[in-house]
Amino acid sequence: MSQRIDTQPVKGTRDVYPDDMRVRQWLFAHWRKVAAQFGFEEYDACVLESESLYVRKAGDEITGQLYNFTDKGGRQVALRPEMTPTLARMVMARGAQLAMPLRWNTIAQCFRYERMQRGRKREHFQWNMDIVGLASVAAEAELMAAQAAFLQAVGLPSAGIVFKVSHRGILQHYLQQLGIDDQRFSAVCVVIDKHDKIGPEATVQLLAEHGVDAATAQSILELMAVRGLEQLRDVVAADNPGLNDLEQLMTLAAAYGIAESITIDCSVVRGLSYYTGTVWELFDASGSVPRAVAGGGRYDGLLEHLGGTPAPMVGFGFGDVVILDVLSEHGLLPALDKGIDDVVFPLRAEVFPQAAALAQQLRGQGRHVVVDYSERRFKHIIARAEQDGAEHLYVIGPDEAARGVAKKRVVGQREESEIALPNGGTVSQE
Ligand code: HAM
Repeated sequence: MSQRIDTQPVKGTRDVYPDDMRVRQWLFAHWRKVAAQFGFEEYDACVLESESLYVRKAGDEITGQLYNFTDKGGRQVALRPEMTPTLARMVMARGAQLAMPLRWNTIAQCFRYERMQRGRKREHFQWNMDIVGLASVAAEAELMAAQAAFLQAVGLPSAGIVFKVSHRGILQHYLQQLGIDDQRFSAVCVVIDKHDKIGPEATVQLLAEHGVDAATAQSILELMAVRGLEQLRDVVAADNPGLNDLEQLMTLAAAYGIAESITIDCSVVRGLSYYTGTVWELFDASGSVPRAVAGGGRYDGLLEHLGGTPAPMVGFGFGDVVILDVLSEHGLLPALDKGIDDVVFPLRAEVFPQAAALAQQLRGQGRHVVVDYSERRFKHIIARAEQDGAEHLYVIGPDEAARGVAKKRVVGQREESEIALPNGGTVSQE
């Protein structure tokens, strides 16, 4: 006998059995519906990318988590860890042919060699909405409104969610005044993003490695503690460009009806070095799952970094793992049946053709039909039809076939009626 294989999926990846697949499709349908409501077009690309697309000097964690390898043609390739660089590549490839601004969305599987924890897998799906070619924070407001619309649709109204919003421009302007040049800015952001996990001392130490002295590091930590526009106005200079953007954003958010869900929180930096403006993370306000369900930001410099013509870009990634955890915690996951309308049960093999012909006729009428060819006892057929959530059960035995009929019952009831079989129950081989 051959050796039994290991039936576990590769560590960090998920098998999706039909029950879970129905939930996944339900989630994706909500994502697609909201994207369409906001006028976004869907795009896609292959999960396999050139590794060079992810080369960044700032030390982003994501580049250390690449699933990368050399293909048989000697190319350095990687499974995409996120969709943003792919989007930038696609926009660059078409350049001026594309009518700006673009509003694009995708649901992309992404791979990251992560340390496994709750809410973190090595493979996840990410819904992305991005706007290309719009410098105004109206784009950010529109994107946040779309995120809120999705959460509302799945049962989390705006009172139950919180957008933690900050702006890289605030930090950049602040650091310029403290003498940190723009060259070191991205790397400093990547370090500061870790401060939640590693604590203030380790942050100060890591900042020192980037030439940030202790006093400056302390000022950075003070800025991180700022919450709300009022406090922000007290701490940063009035001409700070980030402050201005956030003020405008709050006005627009009020128009979208999502202002109460937004907290200005300067501890939000985000771990991706390409962000240049607004950055935000979205949480379940109850704190039942402490991880962000989504994260986004403005990255006006990415096209230029990749050697293209600069264009303003902003968007978010919304993962499937954390949101499904959150919805489960709140009892908001739907109980979805299999979508089967009718079961046709031929009692014996000799009437399989009549059953097949009836099923085809019903399918032609738009019904979802299972033919139960198992020839098991009737009670098993009924139990399975009930379990599958079917509405009608059709039974065909040799007697019925001879008379050109099938017995029909509503699943869960005993009364039966008769319906005529297609073509009077005659199935010819012609
Ligand atoms: P991100 O914050 O790295 O941003 O990921 C966005 C979301 O994807 C996270 O909030 C989380 O829901 C989910 N996610 C990320 N990594 C994992 C993982 N290992 N397991 C489960 N879920 C995960 C980005 O990826 C940016 N590219 C988003 C973006 C789009 N920015 C602008 N446009």
